[in-house]
Amino acid sequence: MSRFSFTLNATDGAARTGVISTPRGEIRTPAFMPVGTAATVKAMMPESVAATGADILLGNTYHLMLRPTAERIARLGGLHKFMNWQKPILTDSGGFQVMSLASLRKLTEEGVRFSSHIDGSKHMLSPERSMEIQKLLGSDIVMCFDECPALPATEEEVAKSMRLSMRWAQRSKDAFGDRPGHALFGIMQGGVTPDLREESAKALIEIGFDGYAVGGLAVGEGQEAMFGVLDYAPGFLPQDKPRYLMGVGKPDDIVGAVERGIDMMDCVLPSRSGRTGQAWTRRGQVNIKNARHADDPRPLDEHCTCPACRNYSRAYLHHVFRAQEMISGMLLTWHNLHYYQELMQGLRDAIAAGQLSKFVAEFHAMRAMGDI
Ligand code: GUN
Ligand code: ZN
Repeated sequence: MSRFSFTLNATDGAARTGVISTPRGEIRTPAFMPVGTAATVKAMMPESVAATGADILLGNTYHLMLRPTAERIARLGGLHKFMNWQKPILTDSGGFQVMSLASLRKLTEEGVRFSSHIDGSKHMLSPERSMEIQKLLGSDIVMCFDECPALPATEEEVAKSMRLSMRWAQRSKDAFGDRPGHALFGIMQGGVTPDLREESAKALIEIGFDGYAVGGLAVGEGQEAMFGVLDYAPGFLPQDKPRYLMGVGKPDDIVGAVERGIDMMDCVLPSRSGRTGQAWTRRGQVNIKNARHADDPRPLDEHCTCPACRNYSRAYLHHVFRAQEMISGMLLTWHNLHYYQELMQGLRDAIAAGQLSKFVAEFHAMRAMGDI
């Protein structure tokens, strides 16, 4: 079986471009991963998600363990078959979602006991159980079970939580075992404190992972603080392994993260905002429900080649949003995912050509012009 590997092809400043190879296909980096929490990228057929240029999707341990359960998905042939997506899938480990969604949480050294946000049923997640679930799902890239402290938190609380996550990282690695073709990523924590980030990185490197995530960001600290961490934290991680920034972000967050050496990202934003009438274009954010679009025969973005922009006017997109028609979420999600993937391709090409600063200057200049 072909192995999991990462090849760096070019760098430009701290930014990198390369390819992650997996038995289910290649992931071009920097990569943006659309979120398919409940075994679907909402409002999109999997073939449409692939058509936007996505090489990999993100799935969620927390949601799938509750419904329809990992055991049922395994009986039905695994998550790829179940949701009809044959390319790579990365699964988050559940700890982060438990903290934001579940009720009656009880955190101990062992793991987290919690009640389901769906029906109140009681469950346990631990490093061992999270590894078991992600294996049942057939995930290609498995994430360590970690804890992301809720903000605001004191430095002491962040340190204590990070050290727990590092002990859980060791247990995750032990439970994951040796699975050729499947990768296990560690997750760096440590908040906005350089010493804690460095301690976390050293602990993870000592354990040894196929890739390293930067966790605990995009949790309300603001872009400036996030970029502050990204100015130094990727430098604590090995050059020759993928670096994944979890839960990011807006287009300008993505560009800033890539400039600082991040290779992978995921975010619900393009799909979620597509369902609330928000479009992302080269010229910034567009609210399609705004009355100024009602008589506008022009496409969302005349340069975009997605189906929403090739075949429909702003007036139509405005109408179907106002009328709460399902095609509204479908078209805007498609456009947003297409825009995000085009942005990633632009970043990859610019890094390969050694032209990243020019690309980033043009990216900001276009946005500064505002919508048409
Ligand atoms: N998603 C966004 N941030 C995090 C994090 O810190 N840990 C995990 N597991 N998932 C995340
Ligand atoms: Zn479009």
